[in-house]
Amino acid sequence: MEEKMIQRIGVLTSGGDAPGMNAAVRAVVRTAHSLGIECVGIRRGWQGLINSDFVVLTADSVSRIISRGGTILYTARSEDFMTEKGRLKAVATCKMLGIEAIVAIGGDGTFRGALELSRLGIPVVGIPATIDNDIGCSNYTIGFDSACNTAVECIDKLRDTMQSHERCSVVEVMGRNAGFLALYVGIAVGATAVLIPERELDIENDLIKRIQNARLAGHNHFMIIVAEGVGNAYDIAKAIKEGVGIDPRVTVLGHIQRGGSPNARDRETATRMGYYAVNALAQGRTNVIIGTKEGAIKEIPIEEALQMKKALQMDRYGILETMGVDNSKIRQ
Ligand code: F6P
Repeated sequence: MEEKMIQRIGVLTSGGDAPGMNAAVRAVVRTAHSLGIECVGIRRGWQGLINSDFVVLTADSVSRIISRGGTILYTARSEDFMTEKGRLKAVATCKMLGIEAIVAIGGDGTFRGALELSRLGIPVVGIPATIDNDIGCSNYTIGFDSACNTAVECIDKLRDTMQSHERCSVVEVMGRNAGFLALYVGIAVGATAVLIPERELDIENDLIKRIQNARLAGHNHFMIIVAEGVGNAYDIAKAIKEGVGIDPRVTVLGHIQRGGSPNARDRETATRMGYYAVNALAQGRTNVIIGTKEGAIKEIPIEEALQMKKALQMDRYGILETMGVDNSKIRQ
């Protein structure tokens, strides 16, 4: 007997927003449309599914959102969805709206929610989108590149004023418990030092000595990048003041890193991921995450995906050190 084609799917964005989420929503809706599948947008993530907060999405309704930052579907972090009662309500919404499967766009927390929902009989497909790039099963997550660019743009501006005043700048960047954003940005701005959670904090060698060496080499301003997972940028500034005797200025970039129009890489990746997510559902492959490996799309069973860890390539840290002015090394 021929298997019945899926008729209606839901799409939602959950957790912290990321540039490119809209491009992913658009790709899901347009791909579904091309396959004759109806698409319902669930607003405010898992909480919206509990509250039956939805909007019907047509191919037209997602016009002109590919370049927009944020998410037109809104997003939230739902406490209710962590309870069995909340999840059963979400299942009831799916039944009521005739939603046969959900495409969930977000990070780790979003996928944990998706796994729970799948255990209650609603098939899911996940699309990784977070500026933290900390999803183990995927080399890349939507939003990372745009967030890096935003941070670089801000730091370049900071450098202008730090240079004029011959100051030291301590910039805290996001990334939750991961240092991807900090290290990539640090390399891109030519930072004096970068502190990341993947490396044991060594204030003396990784911070104080690096500033002192840069100073000895004639530098008169210093750019220090601190991943939020390492701790408070103000504490790092205090350590610099005590260790080097200079008075740094602190900038916490904060949520500005999550905003702005997605760049080409994020739009293109989001579009491919959305396309593959709906095709997986249409072909009966469910409960998977759509990840990337060496640029290509791959599907990973969600349970396995949540166990996977992605290591920061530490050769990048070595490269950063090489680029810095470290007299002790140069003289050896
Ligand atoms: O996961 C994305 C992220 O921006 C992290 O980098 C950061 O730690 C967190 O979300 C901030 O969350 P909120 O927007 O809830 O303050």
